[in-house]
Amino acid sequence: MRILVLGSGAREHAIITSLLGEPEQHEITAAPGNAGIAAAVPVVALDPTRADVVSQYAIDNEIQLVIIGPEAPLVAGVADALRQRGIPVFGPGKAAAQLEGSKTFAKRIMDAAGVPTGRARRAGSLEEALEAIDEYGAPYVIKADGLAAGKGVLVTDDREAAVAHADFWLGHGAVLVEEFLAGQEVSLFLLSDGHTVLPLSPAQDYKRALDNDQGPNTGGMGAYSPLPWLPDGFVDEVIDTIAIPTIRQLASEHTPFIGLLYCGLIVTDKGIRVIEFNARFGDPETQVVLPRLVTPLSGLLYAASVGELGSLPRPEFSDDVAVAVVLASEGYPDEPITGRPISGIAAVVDVTIDHAATALVEGEFVATGGRVLSVVATGPDFAAARAKAYAALDTIHLEGGHYRTDIALRVAG
Ligand code: AMP
Ligand code: GLY
Repeated sequence: MRILVLGSGAREHAIITSLLGEPEQHEITAAPGNAGIAAAVPVVALDPTRADVVSQYAIDNEIQLVIIGPEAPLVAGVADALRQRGIPVFGPGKAAAQLEGSKTFAKRIMDAAGVPTGRARRAGSLEEALEAIDEYGAPYVIKADGLAAGKGVLVTDDREAAVAHADFWLGHGAVLVEEFLAGQEVSLFLLSDGHTVLPLSPAQDYKRALDNDQGPNTGGMGAYSPLPWLPDGFVDEVIDTIAIPTIRQLASEHTPFIGLLYCGLIVTDKGIRVIEFNARFGDPETQVVLPRLVTPLSGLLYAASVGELGSLPRPEFSDDVAVAVVLASEGYPDEPITGRPISGIAAVVDVTIDHAATALVEGEFVATGGRVLSVVATGPDFAAARAKAYAALDTIHLEGGHYRTDIALRVAG
C-alpha cells in the first residue's frame, strides 16, 4: 500500500516502524516527520494541518491510506477533506474529533450515551468556577475546555492554585471543574470504523514529570503494556459500557467516529470511569502497544477507514511486555531548552529509539522540543524490559535531559 503518515512525534515513528515490520512491503511517506523518521522513510515538508495541501499531496501521489497521528489535523478537518475526495483515512472528521477537542462536548456525549464518568460542571465565569470548586471540594480537578497540549489540567489540594488555574484558562474559554476520581489509570485504544470497535492491548501512561508521580502534568513520560493487574473481562466491559455506546451516540448525531478512540480510564472502587477521550493514538502508549501487536497494523487501519472492521477478528498481541521511557529536555514541560546535541543514540543495543523532537544538524542529532525521544524495550517480563531501557538511557547523553526512573517499576517486582 502507499501510505501517508501525518505527524512528527515518537508515536508516528512507532506507527511507521510497525508498518515497516509487516510481511507486506509498503511505500510509506511521513509529513513532516523528524530526524528518526527520516532515517526510516521519505519525509515531505508539508503542514499536516492544511487540509488542502494534504489532500492535494495525497491525490498527486495516489496515496491509498492516510494515517493521522496528532490531534491538530483532526480538529482542523483534514480527515473530512480527504474523505470527501475518496481517500481512505484513519482519523475522525472535525465534528467527531470534538470528543478530544472539547471536554464539554465529550461530557455531553457521555451523558447522552450513559457512559460512566466523573461529575463535572462547566464554568464560563470565575463565579461559576468557585461554586463548583466548593461543591466538589478537594482534591480539586480543573480542566481547560479546549486543546491545551497537556497543560490544561490541574489536580491539586491547594484551593488557591485551583482558583488561579481556573482564572487563567477562563481567559482562553470555558473551564470544567470535575470531581476527583481515585484509582489506577488505564489507556485503552479501540479501532473504530464508525459502527464497531476492535480493542488493542491496554497500557498505562505516566503523566507527571517526576518519579513517584510528583511534579507537573506532561504529555506522558513513559508507559508499559500489558497491565497484568487488570481484572478479567476489563476490555469487554469497556467495549460494552463505554466504547460502543460512545460510537453509537456519535453515529446517531451524524458524526461517525472513524479512527482511534482513546479511552483514558480510571479504575475506581465504584467501577471504571472515563477521565478523557482522545481521538488518536496516545503518546507514549503507542510506543509500547504497537511493538506487541502481531496482526499487521495496516490491515486494521485500512479496514477501519473503509468501514470493514466488523469482518476482522480481534488483533493479536505477543506475550512479551514492553516499556517506554521518555527522555525530555531540561525545563520540560514548562520551558524546554532546545538546540542541544544528543549523543550515544547509535551505540544503544536491544532497544528501539522512537524519535520525537529531533533534527539532524551537521550529522549530529539535536533536540528540538520537550519530549525528545522514547526508548522502548521489550522482554519476557518487566524487570528484563526495564533493565534494557535504562541501560540504553545510560548510553544516551543530552545535557540537562531528564527521564523518570520508575516506569513500570510497580509491575517489575
Ligand atoms: P486529562 O488531560 O483529562 O487526561 O487529565 C490529565 C491527568 O490528570 C489524568 O491523566 C489524570 O492523572 C489526572 N486527572 C484528570 N481528571 C481527573 C479526575 N477527575 N480525577 C483524578 N485525576 C484526574
Ligand atoms: N499520553 C497521553 C496522550 O497521548 O494524550
